[in-house]
Amino acid sequence: MRSRLAFIFRQSFKPHLITTGIASGLVAGYLFSKYKPIVHANTHANVIIGERIPTLPNYAMSEVAKHTTKESGYWLAYKDGVYDVSSFVENHPGGKQILKTAGKALESCWKIFTIHQIDHVYETLEQYRIGNLPEGEREANEKHQETVLDLFQYDPERVNANETFFIRSQRPFNAETKPNLLVSSFLTPVEKFYVRNHMHVPVVNINEFKLEIRNEKSSHSLSYDDLVDKYKSHTITSAVQCAGNRRAAMNNEHQGAALGTQWYVGAIGNARWTGIKLRDLLESFGLDKEGKHVQFWGLDCDTSQRCYGASIPMEKALSEDVLLAYEMNGELLSSDHGYPLRVIVPGTVGARSVKWLNRIIVSDKEADSHWQTSDYKILPPSIKEPQQADFDRVPALQESNVQSAICYPSSDDDGNKIKVLSVQPNDKDQRLTVKGYALGGGGRAIQNVQISLDHGKTWFQAELEQLAQPYMRAWSWTLWTYHINVNDIPSKPFDIVCRAMDIHGNTQPDTPLGIWNVRGVMNNAWHKITLQLDDSFLKKSKS
Ligand code: MTE
Repeated sequence: MRSRLAFIFRQSFKPHLITTGIASGLVAGYLFSKYKPIVHANTHANVIIGERIPTLPNYAMSEVAKHTTKESGYWLAYKDGVYDVSSFVENHPGGKQILKTAGKALESCWKIFTIHQIDHVYETLEQYRIGNLPEGEREANEKHQETVLDLFQYDPERVNANETFFIRSQRPFNAETKPNLLVSSFLTPVEKFYVRNHMHVPVVNINEFKLEIRNEKSSHSLSYDDLVDKYKSHTITSAVQCAGNRRAAMNNEHQGAALGTQWYVGAIGNARWTGIKLRDLLESFGLDKEGKHVQFWGLDCDTSQRCYGASIPMEKALSEDVLLAYEMNGELLSSDHGYPLRVIVPGTVGARSVKWLNRIIVSDKEADSHWQTSDYKILPPSIKEPQQADFDRVPALQESNVQSAICYPSSDDDGNKIKVLSVQPNDKDQRLTVKGYALGGGGRAIQNVQISLDHGKTWFQAELEQLAQPYMRAWSWTLWTYHINVNDIPSKPFDIVCRAMDIHGNTQPDTPLGIWNVRGVMNNAWHKITLQLDDSFLKKSKS
C-alpha cells in the first residue's frame, strides 16, 4: 500500500512545516485505521509497522528532525516508530538526482518516500527501525497527518463503489472492476472503468485551464476551447490496462512478493476515446521534427510541485491514434479519468496515458518523473527490493504484451482470495459458460483465445467478439466466450486456464515464474481459476 507513512523531519520539529512539506503520501494514519495491520516478517517478527517496541530506545521528534543530511543520516518517524532510512536514500537510484535538482536535500528525499516509493518502502519499513517516539509525540504527529489528508478533499464522490470495484486503496483511490462486470459489455461504462491514481484528483476550473506545449526554444499555450475548436476531432476504441494488472498472481513462495497494489484481473477497461491527435498538435507548432521524446505532465502534483509525468518516444507520438482525449464513451471525461484532458497512448501501458494533462514537453530526454525513471520497468528477477535496482539500465515500459483473463464465472468477492468457485451449468443447455477478455498490446490483433481443462495438454478454441481494426492498430480488447459441455466437467474441483495468441504468434507463458519481477509488472501468464460444480447440481444429476 502506498500513502501510509508519516514522516517527521526538518531542522527542528515544526508542525506547520511538516504539514506543508509533506505531500499526499502522508495519509498514513487515516488509511492505517482502515486496513488490517501488516506484520513484518523479516526483522521484528510480530511487530505491527509503526507500533512501539519496548526494547528499543526512545528518540524525541526534535532528535529525529536533526537527521536530515548525508552526514547525520536520514531519519523519519511513523506512528510510534523511529527509522534510520539512510541506506535506502543512498541506494535509491533516482534519489541523488532529485536531491540535486530540488536543492533542499531533506525535503526532496522525503518526497521520494512519501510520494513515489510508498508501495515498497512501506512493506520494508521495519527493516530500518531503530527506536520509538516518546509517549505522547505520536498523537501530535498524527494530528498533522490529518491536515495533510485534505489534499484529497476534492476527490469525487464514488457512489456505491464497493458494488462495482475491488477497492485497493481509498487515498489515493485505486479500484479495479469486478471481473463479471468487465465482460458484461464490450465498452466499459465510465463509472465501471478501473481507476489508478497515484495522488489526489486535482480540481480544474475549465475557464482557467491552459495546456502548455514547449520545447527548449519555444513555448505555446492553448485554452480548452482552442483545443476543441481548432483541431479536428478523432475517435478510437482502445483498452487501457495498468502495467500492474494481475500483479497479485506473481507472488510466489520461491521468488517472493511482487510489491505494489495487488491487482487481480480488473485493472483494465475498454472505451471509446475522442480528442485531438497529438500529431496534429505537434505539427501545428512545428514540434514534430524536434526531440526524441514527448513528455506529458499532469496537474496532480505534490506540495513541492513534483507532478505525475510520463513520456513516449517521438515515433509513437507521431503515429495515427495517440490522442489528447476530452471524451470517454461520448461523455466529457470524469474527474477520476482525467477531466478535462488526458493522453491516450493506445497499445501502451496505462502509465503513459497521463490524466489531468496540462503540460507537453518535447525533449531529447524522457520525463524525469519517478514513474518513468524508477517504476513501471521490468527489473531483473535477482532484484528482490526495488531500492537495490539500477533503474537507469532498464528501459521504461511502453507497449503492452499479449494478455487474457477469465472473468466469468466469478464472484463478488475478491478474486485474489477465492480458492475454489462453486458453479452451476446453464439450466437450458447444461453447458458451463466461460467468458473473458484478451488484448494484443502494441496494436497487434488477437488471433485466438483458447481454454484448457487439463493444464495445457488439450486446448479448445473460444468464440471471439472483436472489432474490425486496421493492421497494427488493434487497440480495442477482444471479448471471448467458451461453453464447456457438462460431460467434460469432473465432479471434483478442476482448473480452467486461458491463453491468447496475437496475429504474430506471440502468446502467453504458462506460469509467472519466468517473468517474475519485484514490481510485478506485465504479468501475462495463463490465467487459471479453480471451479467446482455446485453440490445441488451434482445431486440433481445423480438422481
Ligand atoms: N495520470 C496522472 N496524472 N496521474 C496518475 O496517477 N496514473 C496512470 C495513468 N495516468 C496516473 C495517470 C496509470 S498508472 C494508469 S494505469 C492509468 O492512468 C489509469 O487510468 P484510469 O484511472 O483512467 O483507468
